[in-house]
Amino acid sequence: MIFETHAHYDDEAFDEDRDELISSMRQNGIEYIVNVGSSLKSTAQSIELAKKYPFIYAAAGVHPSETEELNEENFKRLREQCLEKKVVAVGEIGLDYHWDEPSKDTQKYWFERQLDLAKNIKKPVIIHSRDAAKDTYDIMLSKNAAQIGGIVHCYSYSAELALEFVKMGFYIGIGGVVTFKNGKKMKEVVEAVPLERILLETDSPYLAPEPNRGKRNSSLNLPYIAQKIAEIKGITYDETVNVTFENTRKIYKLI
Ligand code: NI
Repeated sequence: MIFETHAHYDDEAFDEDRDELISSMRQNGIEYIVNVGSSLKSTAQSIELAKKYPFIYAAAGVHPSETEELNEENFKRLREQCLEKKVVAVGEIGLDYHWDEPSKDTQKYWFERQLDLAKNIKKPVIIHSRDAAKDTYDIMLSKNAAQIGGIVHCYSYSAELALEFVKMGFYIGIGGVVTFKNGKKMKEVVEAVPLERILLETDSPYLAPEPNRGKRNSSLNLPYIAQKIAEIKGITYDETVNVTFENTRKIYKLI
């Protein structure tokens, strides 16, 4: 039984066959899925998917690249959405300095506000961080993120920093990049981080693992990621799947 911790089935890449694809998950061993919001619209769509499918949960949040759309009024609405029953986390939130817009100040402001929100409602966060390691870490430290807990998703930094996030009580989301031929850094991360702190994710429709790299991704590719982690850690596929499943139940408080 595999737990998909991070996918975007609201994405238009799935418009043609969304229901068919989602309906095929369980017979292919994908037991649960968390559909992660990245904007106000996709948060609403994630909650809709969670209402429609018993095995789908949602995360509600606004991705750093979409933070221009936030204001006090819609932030109140976002808070209400975060409180919905099947919403298991606030996310994805964070910093993305790969693009020039929105400004760093805008991104930081709404990252902090969403961290405060998570702390306030006692739900974990899903962190998206790209080309912004230091600011992400500093803000998490200043906001005492250890009290909030959560996942650093699609982790892309050094093994040393991964262990700092683990010390802070966070879990590390490992996706398709670990299977790439140039994925040496991710291999080091998987070696360093204890299995008890690793989660499986695809970030579908993005970042499909080998041998499907470049194609539309779906949770059906998770076995390739689990297999690679098992190889790197020198353990069985089953142990990898079972331990990461339990990790996910813990962090999303699904017992
Ligand atoms: Ni994502």
